[in-house]
Amino acid sequence: MSRIAYVNGQYVPHAEAHIHIEDRGYQFADGVYEVAAVWRGRIIDEDGHLTRLKRSLDELHMTMPMADRPFAMVCRETLRQNRVRDGIIYIQISRGVSRRDHPFPENVERALVMTARAVDWPTDADDDSGAHVVSVADIRWLRRDVKSISLLPNVLAKQEARDKGAYEAWLVDEDGFVTEGSSTNAWIVDGDGKIVTRQLDNNILGGITRSTVIALARENGLEVVERPFSLAEALGAPEALLTSTTSFVRGIIDIDGNQIGDGTPGPVSRRLRGLYLDYCRGAGSNQ
Ligand code: PDD
Repeated sequence: MSRIAYVNGQYVPHAEAHIHIEDRGYQFADGVYEVAAVWRGRIIDEDGHLTRLKRSLDELHMTMPMADRPFAMVCRETLRQNRVRDGIIYIQISRGVSRRDHPFPENVERALVMTARAVDWPTDADDDSGAHVVSVADIRWLRRDVKSISLLPNVLAKQEARDKGAYEAWLVDEDGFVTEGSSTNAWIVDGDGKIVTRQLDNNILGGITRSTVIALARENGLEVVERPFSLAEALGAPEALLTSTTSFVRGIIDIDGNQIGDGTPGPVSRRLRGLYLDYCRGAGSNQ
């Protein structure tokens, strides 16, 4: 079955999907995006993704290209046309098409693209083999809270991880603190057994999975502390883990070749993964 993309009002086969060469997303990375998981036909944390999308747009002085209802309908139609019941939906909004010039153009329409593809999600908390992680200097701009399509430092960091046989790169700031992963949020369990993840500010993307996992942990009596942690602390931590829309919750088994815990995903990581999978199942059965 050929994949279908939504591009500026039309559903077109991928091979025929085009954007203009003077799209500002293409020329300036002047745009934002979202990736949401689809579980049994339902978009997990749809409201959270929409809220973050609007916030990213607002921070870049842009507005949504359409109202919420038609937007939700385009999401559903993109999923339907691609027959995706389990998978991801990708949404990108750029400032639009205009003669190349740095200032914002006036009276241009936002360019909106959506794609969807199937993914076989995990169903078992224990099927996580654990992730290898390497540390990389965080060389990004200072507005990492905006989900901007300008991802070059993230791409370079992820490639460095892949070149070293790792799943993820943890980005480390000038003071030795871990900000987040190249496309995931970063967590440890500290020496007191508390779950630690960096607080929300301009240094990290506010992960939707991150906030859901914090809520699930707290609802289930686990203590979560939002504070920075250093790479040195992570290397000595009993557990380390990562979260994202596409990774869900994964345990980390080593960082820069240093084994974490006993070298398998730890009990807290497995527990959180189980809670998150239950959450997805619940959301998936509501429709
Ligand atoms: N990445 N940090 C960064 C830098 C990210 O790019 C992402 C998401 C996250 C986790 O956010 P969430 O839980 O909302 O997925 C954290 C997406 C999946 C991507 O770029 O493909």
